[in-house]
Amino acid sequence: MRIKTIILMIMSLTMAGCAVRNKEQVGQQNIENLLAAMTLEEKIGQMTQVDFSVIGAVDPQGDELIDPAKLQEALLKHHVGSILNTPSTPNNIARSYHIWQKIIHDIKVVTEQTRLKIPVIYGIDAIHGATYTQGATLFPQAINMAATFNPELSLKEGEITARELRVSGLQWNFSPVMDIGRQPLWPRLWETYGEDVHLATVLGTSYIKGHQGDDFAQGNKGLTCLKHYVGYSFPINGKDRSPAWISERMLREYFLPTFEAGIKAGAPTIMVNSAEVDGIPGHANYQYLTTILRGELGFKGFAVSDWEDIKRLYTRDKLAASPKEAVKIAVMAGVDMSMVPFDFSFSDLLLELVKDGEVPESRIDEAVSRILKVKFDAGLFEPSTQPLAAEGHFATAEALATNRQAARESIVLAKNTDHILPLKKSARILVTGPTANLLNVLNGGWTFTWQGDDESLYPKDNPTLFKALQQKSTGSVTYVGGNSFNDPIDINKAVAAAKNNDVIVLAIGEKPYTETPGNIDSLNLESSQIELANALLATGKPVILVTLGGRPRIITAQAEKAAGVILGFLPGMEGGEALADIIFGDYNPNGKLPITYPRNTNDIVLYDHKPIENFDPNVYKPLYPFGHGLSYSQFQTTGLSTDKNTYKMGDDITVSVHVKNTGSLTGKETVMVYLNDLAASVTRPNKQLKAFKKVALTPGQTEKLSFILTPQDLSFIGVDLKRIVEPGEFKVMVGAESIVFSVTP
Ligand code: BGC
Repeated sequence: MRIKTIILMIMSLTMAGCAVRNKEQVGQQNIENLLAAMTLEEKIGQMTQVDFSVIGAVDPQGDELIDPAKLQEALLKHHVGSILNTPSTPNNIARSYHIWQKIIHDIKVVTEQTRLKIPVIYGIDAIHGATYTQGATLFPQAINMAATFNPELSLKEGEITARELRVSGLQWNFSPVMDIGRQPLWPRLWETYGEDVHLATVLGTSYIKGHQGDDFAQGNKGLTCLKHYVGYSFPINGKDRSPAWISERMLREYFLPTFEAGIKAGAPTIMVNSAEVDGIPGHANYQYLTTILRGELGFKGFAVSDWEDIKRLYTRDKLAASPKEAVKIAVMAGVDMSMVPFDFSFSDLLLELVKDGEVPESRIDEAVSRILKVKFDAGLFEPSTQPLAAEGHFATAEALATNRQAARESIVLAKNTDHILPLKKSARILVTGPTANLLNVLNGGWTFTWQGDDESLYPKDNPTLFKALQQKSTGSVTYVGGNSFNDPIDINKAVAAAKNNDVIVLAIGEKPYTETPGNIDSLNLESSQIELANALLATGKPVILVTLGGRPRIITAQAEKAAGVILGFLPGMEGGEALADIIFGDYNPNGKLPITYPRNTNDIVLYDHKPIENFDPNVYKPLYPFGHGLSYSQFQTTGLSTDKNTYKMGDDITVSVHVKNTGSLTGKETVMVYLNDLAASVTRPNKQLKAFKKVALTPGQTEKLSFILTPQDLSFIGVDLKRIVEPGEFKVMVGAESIVFSVTP
């Protein structure tokens, strides 16, 4: 068949697809036709993803960021199928959507010159909004979204992010992170939805639904990518990209379910764990990438490597004896696309491997079919696709309001002695501390730049915590501190200023980071922050401790003396306003901890610990437990009941409870349903979250809530590593109440 005929067939099938939308059949036929027409070089090109710098101008002039010759070399000579990242590494910074539109347009123009006109798929880390597009709506990071316990907000974040990406002409988002955050030292903890499987599943799948809708080809939707499959988040030493030791039981119990849920929610791409589990690097793990991912979880999309990680099987892991062997191992393990990212070595080596008979062409066809299918499903072959109009879709008032609400709901009021909070607006307030007057500490990594720490790139009109307090205050707000996180703060000056004020808002925590630059050796804070806090606490003036940053740094001694404690984590661009809203009582806080807040740096005992960890009462003693979070109102749950006392195996269990606002302010409360299997053949956690609902209640209002627990909720990974339910007694817990029910064979 002549090439022209094939292209015409593909185009007409695609157009037919527009009308009929029978994507499955049309797509499959297109893929087979296309594959049959492709040379081996073209196929391998589809499996190659390069960084923008590979096509970027060395000395860009104005908006011309691409070097046309380099772009032609990548697409016409090497048949590259995918490009990632923002121009230009290593500075990679946000660009306006006009520049993005031009980049995507220029790439399309050269694609049209290729023999088969297969579109390039462009990937970007838009992990809390369109992070690399200037002016985009930048949400709270995932750890904060988890603290909202509000799936509706996560869905909206997904919708808004996809829309704002489409305005840029971008479509493929390397998000959400479905790793579970069970190692607080890990510098990417904040990119996760916290330590609990159920919470992360609900928040992550809601995000995917919002981002993709029913059809991610729609002009205002985009593709998601589940990261980082699997076990990346649990390094034993807490450092990024270092070994995890995860047994098969633990893997199946804690680390696989979120990915399984993400696949069911329709995520078409998955990114591979950059580190190793049980001595096997993620990119070499056939059991994970093929046996489990394809065989068990039924994933049909494509798996993309993480940054340079195929090469690293040779250069870092010493698993392969040569770069060529590294390519063979990764491709045969199940990696479909290589984020190379700086050269074409992957293509060259893979070509040799196929020619030498070391990698069968059938494996190449399999990987390329998966990639082409995603491209078809994403509508990339439809030539008419234009970027979404900015008007009405980019940084809208509605997006801003959603973001502000998400930030408010993501902040945890952990302590409020004698109702010190909310403060009167007329109060005289001293604001100090390294995180009090910066926007970057509210946003964290992947904000305008990879590390997110360049304050000069942040919008001038968004207030920091200090500025937001100042704007709302009718009294006085005095700031003592520097202009960057590392600027030393004059303790004597702060103590002297405290004397003339009624209350101190002390903002401590972490500077922005992600990945390896965020590695730390201890959860303890730097001594300069502790000294400042201790000196201010010693003044006798009430201190409101506000923490910002991606990890739970140790604040035990200071929190015990502080009158109020607010855990802000990374509440995003509206974080300053949201914190001030809470501090002054313009918003009644309702965030709940999505992680266990440790008392000491080695207190890494999580809420769903095992009975053996209760044996010594000193083992589990967090500063604040998972799910903790106060309101300016009070709530009570009573009347916990199940619809029966005894169930047959396979039955659903209906749990009901009343929740009442017993305080004097309208507020929101999250009701959490925990379960414990009272005796099982494998030790079970003392409790595990199985369901939750967030409700808004006026003072005195009561609502009856019902929850369905399914057999899946009662199940666990049994002795033979299969998921089972064992008959017997189970305890369900809500608030201070618990009730036992039985399951009979
Ligand atoms: C990170 C990924 C990210 C990728 C592309 C890697 O270093 O681990 O999370 O998606 O870079 O930027």
